[in-house]
Amino acid sequence: MQVCSNNQQIADVVSIWKSQGKTIALVPTMGGLHAGHLSLVHQAKANADKVIVSIFVNPTQFGEHEDFKNYPSTLDQDLSELEFCKVDAVFTPDKEQIYPNGLDSPLKAGSLSQGLCSNSRPGHFDGVVQVVNCLFKITTPDVAIFGQKDYQQLLVIEQMVKTLTLPITILSGDIVREKNGLAMSTRNQYLSMDEKELATNLYKALKGLKQEILQGKEIELSRLNSNRALEQHFKIEYLSVVDANTLKSIVDNTTQIAILCSVFLGSTRLIDNIIFNKG
Ligand code: PAJ
Repeated sequence: MQVCSNNQQIADVVSIWKSQGKTIALVPTMGGLHAGHLSLVHQAKANADKVIVSIFVNPTQFGEHEDFKNYPSTLDQDLSELEFCKVDAVFTPDKEQIYPNGLDSPLKAGSLSQGLCSNSRPGHFDGVVQVVNCLFKITTPDVAIFGQKDYQQLLVIEQMVKTLTLPITILSGDIVREKNGLAMSTRNQYLSMDEKELATNLYKALKGLKQEILQGKEIELSRLNSNRALEQHFKIEYLSVVDANTLKSIVDNTTQIAILCSVFLGSTRLIDNIIFNKG
């Protein structure tokens, strides 16, 4: 496994692979790897000849009062896990490699970035598309894999690829959960044991809401009931039931529904979702 910390190194590796006719998959991450990330790596291996995992904690997607400075860094452990998974190359750039001309960028996230997470994290998705576009330019993958866990991010990236007509196929990976249903997240490290137990109520509430919707109950009424139940354990940023393709209200020709939520448990922000056919 090659570990490259500068753009030229990884570009050289990629150009050798391309000269051999190999296809390349990229899995962008911010490190602090867990089984959710590794499931994307396995998916990448199944969809390309060579797999690159990038590890870069991107400053431009964090708000002023967020956890950029304390974001969990477990590089040695990450590298040994990736080596074990037989990843071909890991790209570990620093800020100067990704943003040689400073952090300002004219690239902005498209319409799907509006609402939901953007309400509490203005500019977050601009930072995401900026870094992902840089990673795409440097590593020129054929395929890139993103988790459904960050559903709005996935749609925003798909929209960016379409708008910029990039020749990259975006694949999405299912949410990997703990046995108790809690969606895996690097930020789960911030939770105490008691909080981890409480956090399981999030997925339970989403599953309950999905059931009610499939039973034909009035969506807004069910959403409000779930919201009330969640309020017992969490400070809710949003609990939304939307069209999974547009992230807007459900309409007659909606085919898939997304239940999306973001909550705080103490000072830890948790997001989770369920996507399902309208039925
Ligand atoms: P990060 O939070 O490290 O996540 C990297 C990838 O792992 C994302 O595509 C995310 O959706 C996926 N992921 C996280 N938890 C998961 C889980 N439980 N199951 C399956 N996939 C999961 O998302 C980012 O980093 C950044 O915004 C990034 C795209 C790298 C840009 O900086």
